[in-house]
Amino acid sequence: MTAFDLVVIGAGPGGYVAASKAAQFGMKVACIDKSYLGGTCLNVGCIPSKALLESSDLFYRAKKGLGHHGIGQGEVGLDLQAMMARKEKIVQTMTKGIEGLFKGRGVTHFVGTGQVRAPGSVAVQGADGEQVLSAKNILLATGSTPVELSNLPFDGKYIISSTEALTLEKVPERLVVIGGGAIGLELGSVWARLGAQVLVVEAMDQILPEMDQEMAQQLERLLKRQGLKFLLGAKAQEAAIKKGQVTLTIAASDQERVETCDLVLVAVGRKPCSAGLGIEDVGVAINERGQVLVDAQGRTNVEGIWAIGDLVPGPMLAHKAEAEGIAVAERMAGRAGQVNYAAIPSVVYTHPELASVGASEEEATAAGHEVAVGKHQFRSNARAHCMDDIDGLVKVVADAHTDQLLGMHILGPQASHLIAEGVLALEFGASAEDVARTVHAHPALSEVVGEAARAVAS
Ligand code: FAD
Ligand code: NAI
Repeated sequence: MTAFDLVVIGAGPGGYVAASKAAQFGMKVACIDKSYLGGTCLNVGCIPSKALLESSDLFYRAKKGLGHHGIGQGEVGLDLQAMMARKEKIVQTMTKGIEGLFKGRGVTHFVGTGQVRAPGSVAVQGADGEQVLSAKNILLATGSTPVELSNLPFDGKYIISSTEALTLEKVPERLVVIGGGAIGLELGSVWARLGAQVLVVEAMDQILPEMDQEMAQQLERLLKRQGLKFLLGAKAQEAAIKKGQVTLTIAASDQERVETCDLVLVAVGRKPCSAGLGIEDVGVAINERGQVLVDAQGRTNVEGIWAIGDLVPGPMLAHKAEAEGIAVAERMAGRAGQVNYAAIPSVVYTHPELASVGASEEEATAAGHEVAVGKHQFRSNARAHCMDDIDGLVKVVADAHTDQLLGMHILGPQASHLIAEGVLALEFGASAEDVARTVHAHPALSEVVGEAARAVAS
């Protein structure tokens, strides 16, 4: 039996980051994954989706025309195969990067399915049969998979998940997306930009129900301008597939509708991969959603077994998984490890992007704050005009009495980068005035953040 200080099951952004960090601290580490290094994020999530979002955005802009920039062009064509090949190349480059990181830090990579046999013992079922590893610590980082709707089961061809929506061989004429969350809006945007007619069916009465209501409504308005259609307060009932077409029955608030389309993308959330891991047999507590329960340190109720990422409660985000991976490795090494759950940004990579950190206006009010809000529009920013990207606004939410910053919400160009200022401000317990008095470079999009913070006091 090979002995390790730490055996990590799952090489997604949580698991591989924890493994390499622990090895850096001098631990003898193994990391097991049944498929690819990088997990969901690198292979069928964050990275391939962002590659397609970038390519489809360029296509959309070029197709709309660059004449007003004084740039003439011929007919703009789409080579979907080349677009997909570029995406794959990015994934391969980044996967090789993790391989290199593991080699450099001395992490032993096992390809196979990991199963906890007992505290301190993990079996790996790989191509060469079974091996059993002994471990002082076991880290569960097996992530999540798409939720299936029982009335619309995935068939991989007509009723698909995000995984298939990242590898379509042709642009569908009509695509119905079930779920107006991050996946629905991002992948809906990709295919709409490439020419599909896209209808998003969302059960709640706003898209992105977790986000600040005003910002989500503004994004919906802008996406409608790009041709996406929305049906809110609606749920798909059933699908019939005939002659390569899907006929979908949808129950909307006041009526039943029938939509015909080529494809249905079901994007109604993801569920943790806790089944088959052997953890229930060793007494690890999980909740009714299959999430592994951990304390504030990432420890399960069984000594020596830890869990992080999409497998545990909290936002299903790669940077949250990474932050937890680093913190648990630090704790195992006897160091201080900390994740500030109140300052985890979330970004929807539509155009414009919607980025958010901290409380929405509704959440801050519900938490008992008298709220002061400051807003500023990108259309009054010179750099946004130079970039031809003037839609959106920054909204700063603060406590009306103490001026403490409670949340920042950015709908606009490069919001994913701009939100870092809000994250840092929350991390340091800043007031809105602190952000307002911070000098922002000119001309830059970040000036809109400063102006919105200044507007809190006006
Ligand atoms: P995962 O990345 O899911 O990795 C878990 C790994 O464990 C997998 O490689 C799996 O093969 C392996 N595994 C599972 N069971 C076993 C077993 N028994 N034995 C061995 N190996 C096993 N998040 C963001 O922050 N930003 C984004 O832009 C973003 N975009 C996304 C786009 C899409 C289309 C999707 C689907 C998700 C996106 N996410 C994004 C979410 C992000 O991918 C996840 O939050 C993140 O990957 C979770 O990391 P993890 O390490 O917990 O698990
Ligand atoms: P989600 O939870 O973000 O959104 C699902 C949406 O579907 C919700 O708005 C919900 O109200 C709706 N819904 C649920 N059941 C429905 C039904 N029967 N009919 C119609 N609508 C229904 O889940 P999503 O988009 O699948 O993403 C999964 C996870 O991946 C999320 O937790 C997200 O954080 C992560 N992710 C993050 C991204 C990012 O950070 N940019 C990008 C993509 C995914």
